[in-house]
Amino acid sequence: MKAELFPPGSDEPKAMRIDVMTPADLTAVLRIEELSFTTAWPQNAFANEIRDNKLAHYFVGRVGDAVVAYGGIWVILEDSHVTTIAVHPDYRGRKLGEEMLLKLLDEAIAQGASWITLEVRESNESAQRLYRKYGFTTVSTRRGYYSDNGENALVMWAGNLKGELYGARLRVLRRALDAEIARRRPSTSSG
Ligand SMILES: CC(C)(COP(=O)(O)OP(=O)(O)OC[C@H]1O[C@@H](n2cnc3c(N)ncnc32)[C@H](O)[C@@H]1OP(=O)(O)O)[C@@H](O)C(=O)NCCC(=O)NCCS
Repeated sequence: MKAELFPPGSDEPKAMRIDVMTPADLTAVLRIEELSFTTAWPQNAFANEIRDNKLAHYFVGRVGDAVVAYGGIWVILEDSHVTTIAVHPDYRGRKLGEEMLLKLLDEAIAQGASWITLEVRESNESAQRLYRKYGFTTVSTRRGYYSDNGENALVMWAGNLKGELYGARLRVLRRALDAEIARRRPSTSSG
């Protein structure tokens, strides 16, 4: 599995490119979904979202031709909701999840949202840390929200997305992320 995801002859991934999710991406998205969540969304859930839901905006991240990450939001006037985000296990810890979250935030702002919310498992500390980095704070707990094990969901919010303070935070984080990506990118020199 790993071999086909990595570019031939390289141990390091190339930069990730983010595109709008299309039906052609769904097989790869489903594979990552199954590797990432105990209760996976079925294919028709993604298919309906990208085909029928006018409030939905879904993206995939590609390294070369391979889909390695995806994420989605709903935007309803001033409010937005991160519905899903995941990175292929072989590609985690390389800032690709952060790049995808930043894309979702950019899209929410571009679509006019001022606020963004999400639910996250109480035990999912790595995701919570990513969200806190981007200004999300826990506002409530939904008891027994996850049907597979009865785990609680934390409800997190961030905003005001259009405010000067949040804009400044995003600029600082984007600069640091861009610098990190540039640092990791394999040298283009032929020597
Ligand atoms: C959550 C997820 C999308 C993060 O993607 P990723 O590419 O591995 O994360 P990144 O390399 O972009 O890390 C960005 C930030 O996330 C947090 N983070 C990521 N992995 C972490 C880990 N193992 N431990 C602690 N924090 C972690 C950190 O804050 C990190 O920033 P920092 O290194 O500057 O502190 C990924 O782990 C995933 O797909 N998990 C399974 C699906 C899932 O849980 N989705 C969220 C549902 S709410």
